[in-house]
Amino acid sequence: MKKKPWSGRFSQDTSGLVERFTESVSIDGRLYAQDIEGSIAHAEMLRAAGLLTEDEARAITQGLREIARDVESGAFVFDPALEDVHMNIEVELTKRIGEPGKKLHTARSRNDQVATDLRLYTRGRLGEVRALLGRFMATLVEKASGHVDTIIPGMTHLQHAQPVSLAHHLLAYFEMFMRDFDRAGDAARRLNVSPLGSAALAGTPHPIDRFMTAAALQFDEPGRNSIDGVSDRDFALEAVFCASVIMMHLSRLAEEIVIWNSQPFSWVVLPDAFCTGSSIMPQKKNPDVAELVRGKTGGVYGSLVALLTTMKALPLAYNRDMQEDKPPVMESLDTVLLCLEAMDGLVQGLEVNREALEGSLKAGFITATDVADYLVEKGVPFREAHRITGEIVSHLASRGKAFDDLGAEDFRKFSHAFGPDIVSVIRPESSVDRRRSFGGTARANVKAMVEDARAQVESLEV
Ligand code: ARG
Repeated sequence: MKKKPWSGRFSQDTSGLVERFTESVSIDGRLYAQDIEGSIAHAEMLRAAGLLTEDEARAITQGLREIARDVESGAFVFDPALEDVHMNIEVELTKRIGEPGKKLHTARSRNDQVATDLRLYTRGRLGEVRALLGRFMATLVEKASGHVDTIIPGMTHLQHAQPVSLAHHLLAYFEMFMRDFDRAGDAARRLNVSPLGSAALAGTPHPIDRFMTAAALQFDEPGRNSIDGVSDRDFALEAVFCASVIMMHLSRLAEEIVIWNSQPFSWVVLPDAFCTGSSIMPQKKNPDVAELVRGKTGGVYGSLVALLTTMKALPLAYNRDMQEDKPPVMESLDTVLLCLEAMDGLVQGLEVNREALEGSLKAGFITATDVADYLVEKGVPFREAHRITGEIVSHLASRGKAFDDLGAEDFRKFSHAFGPDIVSVIRPESSVDRRRSFGGTARANVKAMVEDARAQVESLEV
């Protein structure tokens, strides 16, 4: 049985079951780099405060750096009997350097240590999320720039509504991911407060310098309240929320790609390298990447609810429940990073099937609003115009025909307000180009949107 650093007041060894039940190193082992970074900052501060000699601080720092290298290379493996990453590293340090190792935990507790580690970790991963969001937004802009003139049926209720430029549609996602980028930046900024030196909860009688450790770890400042320092997991929740909203946005795009790729639509062709086949149906080329992004969204939402629920009603300050914070944070961030990368590749390789799109635009009376608007421009009251257009649609639908099967004279049978120019009004291109309202789908607008989005991507600061 391993002697625990806290074994002083215990007369029985820990039960094997409890060791397995309480260990977290299988999960928080991933925090070793942050743990060591925090310990080095702490040791330097203890030296400056006169609590460690130069030699002791140097031994600790060197020992910790060697442990970091050995974890990385696999030469040092964690022992679950030592609970968590913090005790594993501290015990190993003392094994390697002797007495000075025992002084490292002066004026510190695992409570402020784990809060510090998780903040450093989350800050780094939010940076990765922002970098990948930036890359993905660049991909969306590039794809959009090639499709300003590609017109698709815009949908409401998943039914043909009004024609829009495909670039306009793709740039709607650009807007969502830009908000996600900002949101992750906000979360990273709010998170950047150091809990180190809060100690167990009440602070410490030792003459520590929390401003020094905060600066060394690139935090903006030390937290103002030591009790909050060890109790707060808002930053972790915000990160999981950011991941959840990104997944929600990705899942909407994924769903559209699945639909667009299905045979009745066939609007897009997906890259072979991003699809898989069926073990029984030889003709299959499935949009699995998009489907899995859609599916994984559920797990990320689960992480958010799990963490909210773990934190609910916890009395101040630290409670062991909070050890359960790591899986939701790590899993949700792992997933969102993987999904961003996968969707980036999928969108890069996405090709448009123009013929199928043209066929789709013919069906569904997509320019019916334009016909009604035309009548309004000719002085027909809108309700009247709506009814007349509805009658034309019903007439054509019952005969399996479309607007472009009618000549101007045919239109005049429904209203004398129709002139010869109605035949150009029902073309999807003219429908699109008339929508010049700010943010609307006119191609001249959309061309400017692409340029604006490109400039935004180029000036992103991760
Ligand atoms: N493994 C613990 C966690 O992740 C570290 C803090 C332990 N503190 C304690 N008082 N047992 O939350």
